[in-house]
Amino acid sequence: MKKHILITGSTDGIGKLAAQKLAQDGHNIYLHGRNPQKLEAVVKELREKSNNDSIKGFAADFSDLDAVRKMAEEINTELTQLDVLINNAGVYNSARVHNKEGLDIRYAVNYLAPYVLTTALLPLLKKGIESRVINLSSAAQAPVVHEVLNGQRELPERATYAQSKLALTMWSFQLAKEEAGLAVIALNPGSLLNTNMVREAFGHHWSPADKGGNIIYDLAVSEKYAGISGKYYDNDSGGFGTAHADAYDDEAINKLIKATQALI
Ligand SMILES: NC(=O)c1ccc[n+]([C@@H]2O[C@H](COP(=O)([O-])OP(=O)(O)OC[C@H]3O[C@@H](n4cnc5c(N)ncnc54)[C@H](OP(=O)(O)O)[C@@H]3O)[C@@H](O)[C@H]2O)c1
Repeated sequence: MKKHILITGSTDGIGKLAAQKLAQDGHNIYLHGRNPQKLEAVVKELREKSNNDSIKGFAADFSDLDAVRKMAEEINTELTQLDVLINNAGVYNSARVHNKEGLDIRYAVNYLAPYVLTTALLPLLKKGIESRVINLSSAAQAPVVHEVLNGQRELPERATYAQSKLALTMWSFQLAKEEAGLAVIALNPGSLLNTNMVREAFGHHWSPADKGGNIIYDLAVSEKYAGISGKYYDNDSGGFGTAHADAYDDEAINKLIKATQALI
């Protein structure tokens, strides 16, 4: 069955690889990127490579939450259902530390943007068939420091990145509890995969980028994972695993969600 699948941050890296595989199966693919020209070129490239014309692009800079809201409105206007949402766009190094609201770019792009987007797209996801949400977490997870989340305190990018990924994982488990009809998975796609992000941040890699693209693809459409929700998939070990302890701590999660709602 052809699905409607939105993949954020699919102009490069593992998101683009997953998008290409899904497009080759003939699904309706919605790409997203921050740079309209690059997005347009990737839409064209994937249409040609996959022989699938049902590929469309949506542009928004996820460091700007107003742009995320606007993109969600466009999607809500254009689509009638969404079966799979892959929250993949992410940033580690960034020339700018803060966005226009004074929030750390990593928290904005990696956690707040997917929170805002997914919340706005819930009605479409509820119209989808056995809908799935895949949130790109990481092996790097560190407890949320609320002054950092609020933009009141600055830490090195490694620390803020790891906090943003644990926040995303904590909210993923909360969303799975709140929305019984959705299958929500937090995914570590594998560590140090060969992508722009890793090349810029570390200068070396451990595994090819395909390792991440392939697991995104499987979790998005494989029958094997149907109905599995509220779990953390750790592609370093190749199976479901255990996230940071805070992802199972109801008090920490409630505090995070309250702070998040106040921020957005
Ligand atoms: N690679 C790894 O080893 C690894 C490990 C654990 C988790 N992850 C996670 O996997 C996801 C994909 O990462 P990747 O390694 O494939 O990185 P990547 O190659 O750098 O791709 C990141 C994607 O996100 C987009 N993006 C970045 N900043 C954005 C912004 N402000 N607004 C909108 N889109 C933005 C990029 O757009 P452009 O094309 O314009 O750059 C690109 O499409 C991320 O969430 C990352 O944290 C990766």
